[in-house]
Amino acid sequence: MTLRTKVKEALSQGRPGSTILVKGWVRTIRNSKEVTFISLNDGSCLSGIQVVVEPDLADYHEITGIGTGSALAVTGVLQESPAAGQALELKASAIEVVGGADQDYPMQKKRHTFEYLRTIAHLRLRSNTFGAVFRVRSALAQEVHRFFAERGFLYVHTPIITSNDCEGAGELFRVTTLDLAHPPLENGVVDFSGDFFGRATGLTVSGQLEGELFAQAFSDIYTFGPTFRAENSNTARHAAEFWMIEPEMAFADLSDDADLAEAFLKRLCRFALDNCEEDMRFFNAQIDKGLIERIEGVAEASFARMDYGEAIERLKKAPVSFQFPVEWGLDLQSEHERYLTEQVVGGPVFIMNYPKEIKAFYMRQNDDGKTVAAMDLLVPKVGEIIGGSQREERLELLEQRMLETGIEPESLSWYLDTRRWGSTPHAGFGLGFERLIMYLTGMENIRDVIPFPRTPRHAEF
Ligand code: 4AD
Ligand code: MG
Repeated sequence: MTLRTKVKEALSQGRPGSTILVKGWVRTIRNSKEVTFISLNDGSCLSGIQVVVEPDLADYHEITGIGTGSALAVTGVLQESPAAGQALELKASAIEVVGGADQDYPMQKKRHTFEYLRTIAHLRLRSNTFGAVFRVRSALAQEVHRFFAERGFLYVHTPIITSNDCEGAGELFRVTTLDLAHPPLENGVVDFSGDFFGRATGLTVSGQLEGELFAQAFSDIYTFGPTFRAENSNTARHAAEFWMIEPEMAFADLSDDADLAEAFLKRLCRFALDNCEEDMRFFNAQIDKGLIERIEGVAEASFARMDYGEAIERLKKAPVSFQFPVEWGLDLQSEHERYLTEQVVGGPVFIMNYPKEIKAFYMRQNDDGKTVAAMDLLVPKVGEIIGGSQREERLELLEQRMLETGIEPESLSWYLDTRRWGSTPHAGFGLGFERLIMYLTGMENIRDVIPFPRTPRHAEF
């Protein structure tokens, strides 16, 4: 029995004259009296292999009637292809129809809109665009682990069910086994003491707080896991479930943090260009014309760093009218972020030292009494891709900040313990994995870079 060869291997390493077995799904089929051409794709690469079927093949008539989307096992001889754009093709000697597909198969040859394809997210995977997206996504996830492993970072799995709201934004999805029709009430509010965990819990919005505990033992750590936010913003950049990579370093400050973020993003850009070439060329041709040049530039660039204060000044002087107001003390909106990275800098830029009022309680207070050691990395087309900070390592200042932001210090006593014993200056950041994939592929909607998107009113599949 011949062993199966993946299409990628057949096209890149196959020898003309050798007999191979390939298995995959029919992308297109073109019939004529003399010959039938089938493009067979198995997901191993963007290209399909062209299968040439001649009338002397047994069951030729049946083969010509195969529908797009059918699963086939094809045995044949590799031969040099006269057709443009491909070096090799497969002359079929036997074809087994493993699973047929009829005319109702929704992924017929014609182009579909991304909106429509989201409604058939279980089938869109068998298209060029989504094949490329999910190959790049997989390759990048593996490279993330290599990057940190090479630098001696410990990989830690932080909990998904949690009782803390790291970002303090009140966006926790509730996890409960209480009877929602008859919840136990005490003075009119739900009493969670009888709930599964004996307290109110939710899905994590960030693994950072637990990551910090690990950094205070292992020095350099990272998490890479699913993250949940019940944020009711229906934008192209927000999902209710997304994946985040969060490194944390002990004995490190904000500048070390930005250095790591810069090295990390550049490495991922380089990797995509060098190792996902065929898919990147596809994105550059079909999705975003300037993509490769832009990513190439970022891989070599030195990222700009700008204080929040300066960013506000630049925005105030901007010869455009923004929808949202620009004022020291206000948060930057997406339109401001994109103006800064696209128009002012023309490349990635770290905005640093934000007003403390608009940032989370754990960020280190600067000596000016007004700002914290925060950083956001903004990139063209996407805006914020990384958010991070140096953490407040001084116990009293941290407790004071918690009280100011309405967090009961007792509720995070375990977190405060790291400031009680062996506290160190430390820093970390979070990279939204889908934002990264959007950036690297040019895809403009976060729903199109995650397999089964969860957004307000959508949790199909
Ligand atoms: O800026 P954020 O909220 O920072 C944190 O969660 C910190 N605890 C990270 C840290 O310092 N360890 O989120 C980090 C990144 C954002 O820059 C963005 O890329 C992504 O996570 N992100 C989202 N991605 C998709 N959908 C959402 N709703 C997102 N919210 C944040
Ligand atoms: Mg942020």
